[in-house]
Amino acid sequence: MKKEKILDLLRGAPEGAVSGEHISAELGITRAAVWKAVDALRRDGYKIEAQAGSGYRLVSSPDVLTAHEVSSLLGKTRIVGQKIDCLASVDSTNTYLKRAAHDGAPDGMAVIAAQQTAGRGRRGRTFQSKDGGLYLSVLLRPKCPPESLLPLTGLAAVAVCDAVESVCGARPQIKWTNDLLLDGKKLCGILTELSMEGESGALEYAVLGIGINVSQTRDDFEDEVRDIATSLSLHLGQSVSRAALAAAVLREVDALYTALCAGDTARYLAAYRRGCVTIGREVRLLWRDERESVFAEDIDESFGLIVRRPDGTRETIRSGEVSVRGLYGYAE
Ligand code: BTN
Repeated sequence: MKKEKILDLLRGAPEGAVSGEHISAELGITRAAVWKAVDALRRDGYKIEAQAGSGYRLVSSPDVLTAHEVSSLLGKTRIVGQKIDCLASVDSTNTYLKRAAHDGAPDGMAVIAAQQTAGRGRRGRTFQSKDGGLYLSVLLRPKCPPESLLPLTGLAAVAVCDAVESVCGARPQIKWTNDLLLDGKKLCGILTELSMEGESGALEYAVLGIGINVSQTRDDFEDEVRDIATSLSLHLGQSVSRAALAAAVLREVDALYTALCAGDTARYLAAYRRGCVTIGREVRLLWRDERESVFAEDIDESFGLIVRRPDGTRETIRSGEVSVRGLYGYAE
């Protein structure tokens, strides 16, 4: 508790330092107790400089994923992340949150895990979820018809690109619909699941699940994805704090939720179009159990993919899979 409060004070003064005297007055403890707690934080992996005359300064934090760590980095949001469950391991953060939603979990609740034992991907696939990744789901209870959530996954793709860029300086590209890539390899997958009331068809809730490869090495990936997956540390050559990344993702999801509810998503669509590697290429489309080669022309207002067939006819695809030549997953 003492350590957490000291961390909050240090984070509240990111530029400058906080004097031992100030910490001792705020927490009602002696200067010796402050020194002891700072020493304990250092042993936990926090780098804290002591500057003569000005006090303590937080230089860097270890990669610990706790609800307190994420909340203190997150700061104030409108809805998302006001309740956070953080777990060392879970079957699937989406499944966990769906269970919580049925028990009345609040709008914006987030669950974060360091690993998943039954991570789920689109089309019933499994999602490799070893420790080293960041697995996160957010519960949304918007008061709107289910069809207005069509753009949610596209908005989330842009939100995660923004979060990764703000924390790491590198911006992923988007492969329609919702894979994020670095160096042409998969960095992140997004799975959105909706629950609707049987009789009325009204939306009960949506669970937005995001899996980002953070510190995996090549050997951490199993054979079938080793050559087509990457992680932030593989790309950057340095480690990334999962708590800082989780906080950035939650902040961006909060902003997208506000934009979605206000119908104010033009910025996201423009960013999606700019960052989408699928547009302007010949792609292989798997749709309604058929494979065909088409030209990917554009993204429509609901983040559907507008394709042109060789005979000139156009169609908007909302739920298929595309393979882009030169990028992972292109099957001959
Ligand atoms: C895909 O690429 O097919 C989507 C993968 C989505 C993975 C995330 S990880 C967090 C959340 N929990 C899950 O079980 N799946 C999503």
